[in-house]
Amino acid sequence: MNTAEKIEQLKLIQNQVSQCKLCKLHTTRTQTVFGEGNPDAEIMFIGEGPGKQEDLMGRPFVGRAGELLTRIIENGIGVPRDNVFIANLTKCRPTVDLKFEKDRPPDEEESAACSPYLVRQIAVIQPKVIITLGNPSTKFVLNTKEGITKLRGKWGDFHGIPVMPTYHPSYVLRNGGENSPLKREVWEDIKLVLLKLGWRK
Ligand code: URA
Repeated sequence: MNTAEKIEQLKLIQNQVSQCKLCKLHTTRTQTVFGEGNPDAEIMFIGEGPGKQEDLMGRPFVGRAGELLTRIIENGIGVPRDNVFIANLTKCRPTVDLKFEKDRPPDEEESAACSPYLVRQIAVIQPKVIITLGNPSTKFVLNTKEGITKLRGKWGDFHGIPVMPTYHPSYVLRNGGENSPLKREVWEDIKLVLLKLGWRK
């Protein structure tokens, strides 16, 4: 698929996502958050689902966790954020009791309803590497019940695409932030990705 065809396909999926009512999260969303970035991205990040800022802005990873992810991309990987593609397992914001106050990870029903959109995004973009952020996206992409602490830093596979699971930036922020051992582990994982892509020797 050339770039123009990819853009067209992504628009088609985005249009379907924007009207989606397949799970209960559509009742509380401000808007859907499709994901954004380069249709020809070599690296695709997958988070869990939009938070408050993302729901308001309609863009992925624009809150505090997003700022950390952006620093990882721009300072760590060394490319502009729009060089990669950033998506989530669910396209609507999951909140506790659907009261729209506290965020929570997507539940199984929501993930099952929404994940086909993600699978289609991956199929169009065909990244060289997928980086899953935290438990929900790692469990879905690798089809496993194993937790992120065990899986991070080890290559997995999604239909032939290498997958590197790492900690979610929110988890890093809740557990020491920038100078924490967790952040260093994320950097170790990112280095493996750069080696695999030949972006670092
Ligand atoms: N956390 C996620 O998993 N995704 C976002 O888009 C924002 C925060």
